[in-house]
Amino acid sequence: MSVIAIDGPAGAGKSTIARAVADRLGFEYLDTGAMYRALALAALESGTDLANAAALTALTESVDIDLRGDVVKLDGRDVSELIRGPGVTAAVSKVAAVDGVRRAMAAMQRARADAGNLVMEGRDIGSAVVPTADVKIFLTASKEERARRRARQMGLATDEQSLKELSRSIEKRDRADAERKASPFVKANDAVVVDSTGKDVETIVDEIASAALRVIDEH
Ligand code: DC
Repeated sequence: MSVIAIDGPAGAGKSTIARAVADRLGFEYLDTGAMYRALALAALESGTDLANAAALTALTESVDIDLRGDVVKLDGRDVSELIRGPGVTAAVSKVAAVDGVRRAMAAMQRARADAGNLVMEGRDIGSAVVPTADVKIFLTASKEERARRRARQMGLATDEQSLKELSRSIEKRDRADAERKASPFVKANDAVVVDSTGKDVETIVDEIASAALRVIDEH
């Protein structure tokens, strides 16, 4: 089975690129951030204390998180839109910092990689979840571009002041993800850095898809 890992900070364009690469190659697509978001939603809805690592780990083991393409189901309920809300976005880094949560998530993610060809997007795919991935991309973009993308994606204001605030909140979340002890957000040593600032999606998808086809051919 072939795995393409696309990691990078919030707003770098991972989802758009990962989806398009998967379409191009006929691979499945897995948004691992959506899994942490679904768990954060489950924690908020059940009133689980976000500081209680054991309770969050137990919750991960008791809920059913199912992802098919862009559809995210939590215990059978479609939560694809709910997990993008500000409450979940504010809570998700706390949930994702728990070691037991990450272990359970990584096991689910590896099972998907074992089941078929997969493009996986996240923060620790190339560095920890599937270090043997055939292609590892670290996708970045400038601070300004990331804020603009997130604002557009979430239908928020794009004036200078709003973008500055959004940029600060994105950086805060990235810092929390990078500073956690359990599988922190870090670039894998052998990942190829792709800066998406000012580049169009087609160009980046071409780059990644051809790198993938080269590696797959070699195998
Ligand atoms: O990509 P996103 O914004 O939907 O990710 C949501 C959160 O999940 C983000 O704050 C970091 C975390 N995450 C993670 O810790 N590991 C992953 N493989 C994917 C996401």
